[in-house]
Amino acid sequence: MLVAPSVLSADFGNLARDVQEICEAGCDLVHVDVMDGHFVPNLTIGPVVVSAIAKAATKPLDIHLMVENNTFFVELFAPLKPEYISFHIEEEKHPHRLIQKIRSYGIKPAIVLNPHTPPESIEFLLGDLDMVLLMSVNPGFGGQSFIDTVIPKALRLNEMRNRINPNCLIEVDGGVSDKNVALLKDAGVDIVVAGSYVFKHPSKAEAIKSLQI
Ligand code: DX5
Ligand code: ZN
Repeated sequence: MLVAPSVLSADFGNLARDVQEICEAGCDLVHVDVMDGHFVPNLTIGPVVVSAIAKAATKPLDIHLMVENNTFFVELFAPLKPEYISFHIEEEKHPHRLIQKIRSYGIKPAIVLNPHTPPESIEFLLGDLDMVLLMSVNPGFGGQSFIDTVIPKALRLNEMRNRINPNCLIEVDGGVSDKNVALLKDAGVDIVVAGSYVFKHPSKAEAIKSLQI
């Protein structure tokens, strides 16, 4: 299991220090939550802060867009060369076009599904994706409880990706801890995002290691 700590739970007064710490602690990706106050009822960070994160990080960035105008934000963040940019299918009229646009920058495209969105909604996009991110909370805030219907959903998506595009990874985001990571692993999940679990743990390195099963 790969681990992408979410910097949403970091200490923003010491952001560079916290980003360096999770990278040195052995995380695989740095998960960056961009919220615009429209698609979700919360507002987080823009290009100035995300570029500070990119400068401090020694691991690749995994940018999770929770915004209304996906194309605008893709263009804004592309110069930072993240490994992944993921956007919500619920907020995109032309997902196929946007996938090609993200790839044209040399960035891996990913789609995010909210808790209610079935994996079948992206069946005809799976062949073009490098990752699918399943939300296991409603997007907008860290520290929420894990919604366990993500398990049967991951099993279904796992079957679909094995059939259509075995190279496409499955990531789960929200309420992940050492209590549910084994269930996610058994359901075929490849990457977990963890915010409050990693940043509230007395040892970030131990927290990350406990998820790398
Ligand atoms: C929620 C964000 C998550 C969040 C996860 O909208 O997408 O990445 O930071 O936080 P935890 O792990 O605390 O649920
Ligand atoms: Zn996220």
